[in-house]
Amino acid sequence: MTPGLRIDSLSLSIRGEDGLTPILDRVSLQVGRGEVQGLAGESGSGKTITGLTVIGLEPPRAEVTGRIWLDGEDLMAITGRSLNAIRGRRVGMVFQDPTTSLHPQLTVGAQLTDHVRYHLGVSRAEALERAQTALDRVGVAGGRETLRRYPHEFSGGQRQRIAIAIALACEPAVLIADEPTTALDVTVQAGVLALIRSLVDSLGLAVLFITHDLGVMSAVADRVAIMRRGRIVENGERAQVFTAPAHPYTRELLASLPGATGGLRSRADLAGIDPFGSGDPTGDPTGDRPADAALVRDRPADDDLAGRESTGDGREEAADA
Ligand SMILES: Nc1ncnc2c1ncn2[C@@H]1O[C@H](COP(=O)(O)OP(=O)(O)OP(=O)(O)O)[C@@H](O)[C@H]1O
Ligand SMILES: [Mg+2]
Repeated sequence: MTPGLRIDSLSLSIRGEDGLTPILDRVSLQVGRGEVQGLAGESGSGKTITGLTVIGLEPPRAEVTGRIWLDGEDLMAITGRSLNAIRGRRVGMVFQDPTTSLHPQLTVGAQLTDHVRYHLGVSRAEALERAQTALDRVGVAGGRETLRRYPHEFSGGQRQRIAIAIALACEPAVLIADEPTTALDVTVQAGVLALIRSLVDSLGLAVLFITHDLGVMSAVADRVAIMRRGRIVENGERAQVFTAPAHPYTRELLASLPGATGGLRSRADLAGIDPFGSGDPTGDPTGDRPADAALVRDRPADDDLAGRESTGDGREEAADA
C-alpha cells in the first residue's frame, strides 16, 4: 500500500455532439504523505479537471479511464454514498475563490460543525470542539466569537483560511488546493502558503497544489509537474525542474516569467527560495486576523451557537428528525 494519493494513467474525454473531446491523456502523479506535489500549466490544460476527478466530481458525460488510489485504496471502484464519504472526509478540496466554498448566510461555526457532523457523525458538542481546533490550526483567532460570524465579516485571506479549516476539519489524508491563493494580495498569499506548508508538515498531509503561478509553486511545492493540453510533460524535484527543465514547454513557461529577462525573479530563486524565513509559519505579515480586523462587528451576547445553527436553514432539524 502506498500512503497518500496516486494517480495512474488517468484519461478523460467528454462526450459531446461531435463525439469525444479528449481532455486528460494518461496523467500519472504520486503524492506521498507530508509532500506537496505542484501541478502547473497554461489555462485550459486540465489541472482543475484532474483535481475534480480525484474527488469524483468530473464533468457530466465524462468518460474516465485509469486508476486513482488513496492510501492504497482504489477510488475508481467506489461509487455513490461511499464516494461521498471520501469527498470532504478523506480528501479535502480548497478552491481559488472561498466565496464559492463558504455559504454566505451561514455562520462559520455552522459551516464547520455541519461538515464535521455530516462526515463524522459526532455530537454537537464534539463538533464545536473540532470546529474550534480547526480554526486555531489555520491561525484564525477569536475563539467562540469567530464561530458566530458570517463569511463576509472576514477579509479575503481569513476567508481562505476558514475554507482550509473546513477542508481539514475531518483530518483528511489528502488536500487538493486549486489556485488557493490566486485571488489574494501577495503578502496575504505568502501567509496562506506558509500555513499550507506548515500543515503538510504537522499533519502529514499529501497535497496536490494546482497553480499557474510558478512563483507560488516555488514557494510551496516539493515536486513540480507541468501539464500541457491534458498531458504531464515534465515532473520532478522543484530545484531540478526550475534550474534544468527537460521539456521545451517548461523552458518556455520559465522564459515567460518577469525574472527571466532580468526582472523580479531568477530561476535560482524559484528553485530554492524560502519566502517566509524562519518566522512563525502561521503568522500573517499583514495582521490578517479577526482580532484586529475593522470588519469585525459587535454581536449580541448570545452564547447559544447551536441554537443559531438550528434556526439558520433548518438543516439541523432535518438531520435530527
Ligand atoms: N464541465 C466541462 N465540460 C466540458 N469541458 C470542460 C468542462 N470543464 C472543463 N472543460 C474543458 O477541459 C479542459 C481543461 O479545463 P480545466 O478547467 O481543467 O483547465 P485548467 O488547467 O484548470 O485551466 P485554468 O488555469 O484556466 O484554471 C478545457 O479545455 C476546458 O474547456
Ligand atoms: Mg483551473
